[in-house]
Amino acid sequence: MRPSSRAAPLRLSLDDTDRCRIARRPLQPRPRLKVVTSLPAQRDLIGRTVLITGANAGIGYWCAESVAGRGARVLLGCRSPQRAQVAAAAIRSHVPGADVGVVPLDLGSLSSIADAAAATHESLDAVICNAGVKAADRAARTSDGFDLMVGTNFLGHFALLAQLGHALSAHARVVAVGSLAHRFARIDPGTLSLPWAGPSLRQYGRSKAALMSFAFELDRRWRDSGRSALCAHPGYAVDPLTPPRDGLATVSTPVRAAAALARGLVQGKDAGAAPIVHAAVAAEASGGDYWGPGGLLEFRGAPARVQASAHVRSPEVAASLWSEAEGRTGVRFAV
Ligand SMILES: NC(=O)c1ccc[n+]([C@@H]2O[C@H](COP(=O)([O-])OP(=O)(O)OC[C@H]3O[C@@H](n4cnc5c(N)ncnc54)[C@H](OP(=O)(O)O)[C@@H]3O)[C@@H](O)[C@H]2O)c1
Repeated sequence: MRPSSRAAPLRLSLDDTDRCRIARRPLQPRPRLKVVTSLPAQRDLIGRTVLITGANAGIGYWCAESVAGRGARVLLGCRSPQRAQVAAAAIRSHVPGADVGVVPLDLGSLSSIADAAAATHESLDAVICNAGVKAADRAARTSDGFDLMVGTNFLGHFALLAQLGHALSAHARVVAVGSLAHRFARIDPGTLSLPWAGPSLRQYGRSKAALMSFAFELDRRWRDSGRSALCAHPGYAVDPLTPPRDGLATVSTPVRAAAALARGLVQGKDAGAAPIVHAAVAAEASGGDYWGPGGLLEFRGAPARVQASAHVRSPEVAASLWSEAEGRTGVRFAV
């Protein structure tokens, strides 16, 4: 770092002995300056606790490594204890001294969700609703018989947050991980978990739109409290552009090399995690926001505020979705 022009002038004084030593010393080559290329990560989240669902892989893992690197205690909400431990070990090996815990949580099972909520006694400063199923057969169901994508991505997170109130700190933030796919989906609350037709991607979009609509409604209902809810999406984030981590997605060298050609358009899951982490912890993010990558088509780039559809911002759609979710899950969410 350069000294500031406002810094006090440095005063040097040479006594006669110094002058003699300098005169007699032969000219030496100047020592090379050591260039420091990486500074220690900013440890600005010490004392905070963040629960991340689906943190054993992909974007959820990178959210966890990122906040752990900044000093937060991180709770990995995962359905597989083995995969959770592999992720915890990877975080610890990249973040020495990381504070990592595991919350057993299967978002496709209402009883697992109830158990996870009841077993969480720590005060949570943020919850990142990341776990998601991105494609499924239309016959695929959660253990409670819901459509797999809607049941996991939306109803599971609805039931979790409805039962997690006791653990949320007074200023807790909830971040729903949305998707660009919400833009071409319409939510019809009455048909949410019924058999669907058309492409899987459209049903995925409905599940993400429902999660986003719920988060914006949660924020409206929390308006008079210190708590807030907002949405974020990772853009177009793929494993072959993601730095390797032991035990996580393995990508062959040829696939990695081929994917590098797409780096100008899409990004790795480490970068995809950035807008989500930003939404969860940045001072400039606030309730009702929607964050995503700021680059071309929102596929990649640094976090920026982005536009959510009018449909997911509609209080009328959200109110009817909320009642439908309570009815389907049998979990009342009193706010
Ligand atoms: N990648 C993208 O470009 C993109 C774009 C827009 C939005 N998103 C969203 O970002 C989130 C993460 O995506 P990703 O690409 O990182 O996906 P991913 O690599 O497939 O990871 C999904 C995570 O969700 C977990 N999960 C799935 N079902 C679960 C359940 N029933 N209970 C608990 N955890 C469950 C998975 O755990 P298991 O290992 O146990 O299966 C895994 O940890 C998703 O919500 C996705 O919709 C991704």
